[in-house]
Amino acid sequence: MTQTPSATLIRNGRVITATDDYVADVLLKDGIVHTIGHRLEVGPDVAVVDASGLYVLPGGVDTHVHLENVIGPTITCDTFASGTRAAAFGGTTTVVDFALQTETDSPLGAIARAQASAEAQVAVDYSLHVIVTRVDDQVLKDVQLAMRHEGVTSFKMFMAYPGVMMADDAAIFRMLRQVGADGGMVALHAENGTVIDLLIKEALEAGHTSPRYHAMTRPAIMEGEATHRGIRLAELAQAPIYFVHVSSNEALKHIVAARAEGIPVFAETCPHYLLFDDSVYNSDSLEIAKYVMTPPLRSTEDQKHLWRALRYDDLQVIATDHCPFCMKEGHLGYRLQKMRGKDDFSLIPNGAPGIETRLVSLFDIGVMQGRLSLNRFVELTATTPAKLFGLFPKKGTIAVGSDADVVLFDPAATQTVHAKALHGNCDYTLLEGRTLRGRVEKVFLRGQLIVDGPAWLGREGMGRFVPRGEVRAF
Ligand code: URP
Ligand code: ZN
Ligand code: ZN
Repeated sequence: MTQTPSATLIRNGRVITATDDYVADVLLKDGIVHTIGHRLEVGPDVAVVDASGLYVLPGGVDTHVHLENVIGPTITCDTFASGTRAAAFGGTTTVVDFALQTETDSPLGAIARAQASAEAQVAVDYSLHVIVTRVDDQVLKDVQLAMRHEGVTSFKMFMAYPGVMMADDAAIFRMLRQVGADGGMVALHAENGTVIDLLIKEALEAGHTSPRYHAMTRPAIMEGEATHRGIRLAELAQAPIYFVHVSSNEALKHIVAARAEGIPVFAETCPHYLLFDDSVYNSDSLEIAKYVMTPPLRSTEDQKHLWRALRYDDLQVIATDHCPFCMKEGHLGYRLQKMRGKDDFSLIPNGAPGIETRLVSLFDIGVMQGRLSLNRFVELTATTPAKLFGLFPKKGTIAVGSDADVVLFDPAATQTVHAKALHGNCDYTLLEGRTLRGRVEKVFLRGQLIVDGPAWLGREGMGRFVPRGEVRAF
């Protein structure tokens, strides 16, 4: 009879954290990293994995994903089950999704609703940010309760999408003041929503209906204006602030200046802003709907600034903003997704997939192309997101006592990306046909092997909600 192993020894791999790079044996036991050493001796009940030639990375932490998120009249096509399975195949073992406060319920209701759906489905560990769309005294009380008792310590607010999700400056300021004082983080979607809506209206009136006008009506300067405004609100509130999906130098220059002034401003960018530029919009083809995300792709000049900021820590996180909608109507039963906007670009649901390709695409264009060191790659994709959102050191590193979320990564392998071979529900990938260097070989979640090459050994419901603590930003 084969014995179920009580633990796993990863032998002779190259352990990479945000600060370390060494060859060692790593013993995963009782769900945590139990021992790190050389030539560790173990009994026959311990499974031994030879990791010679492989990197041993902390499981990725993706703090910006939209699974089962209702966005306008539709819903992202990845469920908690399909999205977390895809995350795992991509080497991500913790995701932070969004719980949307509706017109009538409170942040606490939003958390309970998301958890009720996630619990039986998630295959990796997860947490939630609450999207706060309405602020009053009761909402602020509930936000405090969420932080103290639910382990939800971050809240997203929108400066875009008037009448849908946009919060006004006073509401954002009130949230910043309270959440900051309690040790949490407000994450801001920074675009000037009312001006953008005017530009959209004018474009449509002029007969400009094709997807390319999505980009033309969301100019970088309006991302910059909102970023500047958000920084000033945070400065007044004496609170840290985090900007999601930074795409342009117009936004970045305010972040750089604020950080130089000592204001605690933090920011992420996303792989698509590094992989693609606005030249994709030079066509009236409906295929361009694939690239309709917010903010839109920017210029190659902007990309240079993003890379510089990633190198010098003016950007601290690369998260996916995985927000998948299908292109083909009826695919897997999802109707009226991207093609909703075939006659009116403003009806295309905003967002693109990327949860499974984050680590490998960044390894290829970041590490292999000499833009990021291996340590920085880990820091941007696991360690700092965990620190900024109260998950560290449980998540985001390989250290004795940390959760045994471990990725064995082969830097010498290559793979060609095809949507059909990915594990989510989306029917396209922006990386279709692209060959990338590096491959996720094995993934452990709290010590359990969930991905073994092409084999899925995980199961729905094995992921856990991770209560989060205070921001560890400085
Ligand atoms: O296009 C995007 N980013 N859709 C998701 C919603 C958001 O603003 O993050
Ligand atoms: Zn956003
Ligand atoms: Zn998003």
